[in-house]
Amino acid sequence: MMLNGPNLNLLGAREPELYGRTTLDALEADMTARAAEAGAELLCVQSNHEGTLIDALHDARQSCDGVILNPAGYGHTSVALRDALIACERPAVEVHLSNIARREPFRHKTLTADVAIGTISGFGVLGYRLALQALLAHLDALGEH
Ligand code: DQA
Repeated sequence: MMLNGPNLNLLGAREPELYGRTTLDALEADMTARAAEAGAELLCVQSNHEGTLIDALHDARQSCDGVILNPAGYGHTSVALRDALIACERPAVEVHLSNIARREPFRHKTLTADVAIGTISGFGVLGYRLALQALLAHLDALGEH
């Protein structure tokens, strides 16, 4: 599953100097194709609502082998999202389009990063591709892909 958090529905239009010009639709289409090429099926979910993101992580317990997560703003604030990521019991790669370490101090930490197997930050949409590669390699190593 590729799970994108709040405001990422506006990808392409929202602060393009920070987040780039690729739309969410284009990102999801590209990632779905890349996953298929690698023999995986990608479920794409985006929500602006904390509870919906949490529900998606609960559903992933049954339906997904791993998660690519851009928690967006909730990564910095949501203990509940962190708890859901733990409860999900699936390996997750955290992605941020921007380099959160170079931004305001409140963005430097996320509550989800130490639950993820790794984080990719600062490479725009390329980060999602790298995350897919990393997640599939991790699942291959576990014999689950
Ligand atoms: C973001 C970084 C977050 O700090 C911010 O709240 C976002 C997007 C990123 O992809 O760079 O919404 O997760």
